[in-house]
Amino acid sequence: MMKIYLIGFMGSGKSSVGKNLATSLGISFFDTDSYIEEYTEKAIPAIFADEGEEGFRHYESNALEQLSGIEAVVATGGGIIEKTRNKDIMDEDGIIVYLHTNFETISQRLQEDKNRPLWNQDLNKRKALYERRLPMYKQFSHYIVETDDKEVEDIIYEIEDVMKFS
Ligand code: S3P
Repeated sequence: MMKIYLIGFMGSGKSSVGKNLATSLGISFFDTDSYIEEYTEKAIPAIFADEGEEGFRHYESNALEQLSGIEAVVATGGGIIEKTRNKDIMDEDGIIVYLHTNFETISQRLQEDKNRPLWNQDLNKRKALYERRLPMYKQFSHYIVETDDKEVEDIIYEIEDVMKFS
């Protein structure tokens, strides 16, 4: 069974890479954020406002559990590394690829995006979150792919290449 989890900070391209990778491999694509929004029938900012980050993290781990055992590419939310339990779920089920993107590139891509509650805060807090999470993504992942200045096709090619060794 082929199962690829894409992890990385907000704006690292997990969804666009994930969709294209799934098409290229001929398998399904899931996005944990969309999965949660469909399940709760709420947008992510509303979940954070009503149930807090902790409530959202609970849905996120549940989504991973629901998707385990299914052949797919799964784009995860940027905070998937906040729960060690999530590592166990993904580790047992497939390969975990970290899409690494520089903070400057992410800032350009997201700018003043209002749909991500943890991006929607001042620059120092965004930067501190990014710095704190960097080692966590590395610790969670089996492979790291650098994405700065690369086209989606090149990133997919690299992921397909590392998959040959797993
Ligand atoms: C989050 C990232 C978002 C989404 C939520 C929380 C985070 O997903 O899950 O806003 O904690 O980094 P993306 O990484 O797809 O933006």
